[in-house]
Amino acid sequence: MKQVADPLVKKGMLPKHVAIIMDGNGRWAGTHGLPRLAGHRAGIDAIARCLSAATQHGVAYLTLYAFSSENWLRNPQEVAELTELLRYYLKNKVQELHNAGVQVRFIGELTRFDGDLRKNLTEVEDLTAQNNRIVLLLALSYGGRGDIVQAARRLACASQNGMINPDQMTESDFAAHLWTAGVPDPDVIVRTGGEYRLSNFLLWQSAYAELVFLDVFWPDFNEKHFSIVLDLYAQRERRFGVRPVASV
Ligand code: FPP
Repeated sequence: MKQVADPLVKKGMLPKHVAIIMDGNGRWAGTHGLPRLAGHRAGIDAIARCLSAATQHGVAYLTLYAFSSENWLRNPQEVAELTELLRYYLKNKVQELHNAGVQVRFIGELTRFDGDLRKNLTEVEDLTAQNNRIVLLLALSYGGRGDIVQAARRLACASQNGMINPDQMTESDFAAHLWTAGVPDPDVIVRTGGEYRLSNFLLWQSAYAELVFLDVFWPDFNEKHFSIVLDLYAQRERRFGVRPVASV
């Protein structure tokens, strides 16, 4: 895959980490008179387009919200179809990802998946661990609140065991116990599908993320939409709560 010389890189306005709430599969299917599963299937092709665009632009981390902790409460048939699709994805797309230099990581409450699927997830992480073209984080059975609670639980245990002193605990210590440990916070969070909410995605990590909402159903997402995200991001002024003295 050829990397394009992106003018945004030169200006230092390229996000290092893009995170996406892939919404609108069901509605896309509805508008085409198809079952919801067809929308999720088409969503897999959109993932490939998005990943290719992210890699070509030189984005270092791409996080995709593929299955939320709340998605377990959907109709059991849809849950089964989504997990089957995940199995299909792991079996049929991973070699392609590996060849393209993609390092794949999974974040979420993975213990909720069946043992064989969990084994697949570990195999994929192991296979791609040394790749360095781009890191793809797939959020599966993921919830931002769940992430914060599991980190708090682990820190509480470490404190009980005398491994850490709670009085000296910092935000960095906390972040190091999140599922995203070692990954920089997302610079921009994108949601497709025309709704304006975070839906329990990366709640801690989104503290200073720029938000972009696109009125396109996820299965229609393509390279042009990715460029629109980069352009919108480049127009934002990020201050992280600090206003430059000159503009007071
Ligand atoms: C939201 O659309 C999307 C999901 C709940 C699942 C996202 C899954 C994929 C993109 C494909 C599967 C991915 C992998 C990695 C196997 P929705 O169903 O809520 O759409 P709606 O709001 O239009 O109903």
